[in-house]
Amino acid sequence: MWPSFVPGISSCSLLLGSSYRVNSYQRNVLDSQVCFSNGFSFGVATASYQIEGAWNVSGKGESIWDRLTHAHPEMILDHQNGDVADGSYYKVKEDVALMVELGVSFYRFSVSWPRILPNGLSNYVNEDGVRYYKELIAELHRNNITPVVTMYHWDLPQCLQELGGWTNPIMADYFVDYARVLLDTFGDEVRIWLTFNEPYSFCEDGYGGLDAPAANSSGFEDYMCGHNVLRAHGMVYRMFDNEYREKIGGHMGITLDFAWLEPATTSVEDQQAAETARQFYFGWFAHPIFSESGDYPPIMRSLIDENSKRQGFHRSRLPYFTSEEVEMIRGSYDFLGLNHYTTYLVKRGSQRLNVQPSFKEDMNAVRFQRDDWPKTNSTWLKVVPWGFRKLLNWVRLNYRNPKTLITENGVAYPRGLRDTKRVKFIDSYLRSLHTAIYQDGCFVIGYTYWSLLDNFEWTRGYTERFGLYEVDYQSPDLTRTAKLSAKYFTNVAKTGCLPNNFADYTYDTD
Ligand code: NOJ
Repeated sequence: MWPSFVPGISSCSLLLGSSYRVNSYQRNVLDSQVCFSNGFSFGVATASYQIEGAWNVSGKGESIWDRLTHAHPEMILDHQNGDVADGSYYKVKEDVALMVELGVSFYRFSVSWPRILPNGLSNYVNEDGVRYYKELIAELHRNNITPVVTMYHWDLPQCLQELGGWTNPIMADYFVDYARVLLDTFGDEVRIWLTFNEPYSFCEDGYGGLDAPAANSSGFEDYMCGHNVLRAHGMVYRMFDNEYREKIGGHMGITLDFAWLEPATTSVEDQQAAETARQFYFGWFAHPIFSESGDYPPIMRSLIDENSKRQGFHRSRLPYFTSEEVEMIRGSYDFLGLNHYTTYLVKRGSQRLNVQPSFKEDMNAVRFQRDDWPKTNSTWLKVVPWGFRKLLNWVRLNYRNPKTLITENGVAYPRGLRDTKRVKFIDSYLRSLHTAIYQDGCFVIGYTYWSLLDNFEWTRGYTERFGLYEVDYQSPDLTRTAKLSAKYFTNVAKTGCLPNNFADYTYDTD
C-alpha cells in the first residue's frame, strides 16, 4: 500500500508504536547503559522562515514575518530578517547530507504557506515552491530519512493577515484549502503530518504580543486566534480522516509547546496557581483535542467568563465552540507533538481588578525562574532537566498517555564549535526523558533536536544559535560546520544509547 520509496525500519517504527515497549532482555541491557529501545527514533527539526531564505524568488508571496522584519527592523534584536537566512532553499543536498552524517531517522521541517500559495488561496499554486519541497522530500527518502512535515510554522501569507489573520473565522476554511493542496501534492510521499507548530506561541506572542503580526492585543485577539486555530486543526484532521487516510495512509497530529510549571511553594494556593497556569499555557490547546471531555479547560472557561463579566463585557472574551465543534476537535489526533525547553515556578498573582484585560491577568498566576538555575543564551531558557519528566507524567495522567513525539528540544549558546554546554544539556534532558519512558511508562516514541542548523530566531534574529551545525553568516556560501554536539548526537542517534564516557564531549576549551 505504501509507495516503495517509503523507507523500511526508520519510518515504520516511527509512530507505529508497536516496537516501543522493551522486553526483559532489553531492559537488562538498558539497565547497564542508558539506551532507548529499537523502535525509538531520533531526528532534527527546522522551520521554513528560519532557514530557507529566498524570500521573494520563484513566485513566493510575502509572509507576516517578511512584513514585520522589513517594516520594523527595530523590533528584531539585531535588526536582521529571513531574506537570506541559511539559504536552505538552494541547499537541499547539502542539508540532507548533514542529516546523513548525524544518522537521524527523520527530519521535521515546515512548508511555507506563501511559497506554495502566494496569494494565500488555493486558486493558484506556485510550481517552483512545489518543486523545492518535492526535491527535498525525494532526497530525504533516497537517504532513508522520514519527512515529518509541519503545515504551519508561523509564516502566514501577508494578504490573509490583511483580512485579520487568525482572528478571522474564515481562516480555518482557507487553512483547510491549503492543507488539501499539501495532501494532494505531497501525500504520497509524506506519512507524518503536523497541522500547527506551537499555537500558544503564535497566538499569544503574535496576536497578544509583538511577534508577527504584532497585534499586541492580549485577552482578546489571542483567544480569537486560538479559537480559529483549534477549529482549523479539527477541520483538517477530519478531512484527512475522511478523505485521505484510506487512500494515502499516514498520521496526523499537532505540536504544542509546554514549559513545565512547578508550584513555587508547597502551599495549597501555589499548587492551585500552578495547575491553573498549566491549564492556561498548555490546556488551552491540549484540553479541546486530547482530553476525554473536550472543549476548553473548565478553569479557563470560568475565569475568563467571570473576568469578562466583571469588566462589563456583554460576552466572554473567550469564544464558545458549538457542541458540533467540540466533538469535531475532541480526539482529532493520531499523536501529540511536544516541544519542551524549560521550567518555571508559579505563584498566585495579586488580583488587580479592573486592570487592562490580558491572558496573564485572566490566569491570576505569575511564573518566574530561579536565578541559580543554569543560564543559556536565551533569557527565557534555563536548564532544568527534571521538569521534562514531570511534564511528561502530567501529560500521561491528564490525557490518557497519548502517543507522543518530542518535536523540539534544544538550547542556544554563543557561537563556538566546542559547545560542551549543549552536549550536557541534551544529555541531561535525554536522561530525564528516558526515566519518564522506562520507569514511569510515558508513551514517547521519538526525540527531535532543535535545530539542525543555527538559524533566524524570530525577534532575537541571529543572536541565538540553537544548531548542531554552525552557520557562518559572513561567508558567501553560508558554510555549515559541525559542532561538538553534532558528534555527540550522531553517537546517540546511531547507537540509541547515551555515552557512558562523557569525556569525549566535555573537554574544556575556550
Ligand atoms: C520553538 C519554535 O517552534 C522554533 O521556531 C524556535 O526557534 C524554537 N522554539 C527556539 O526558540
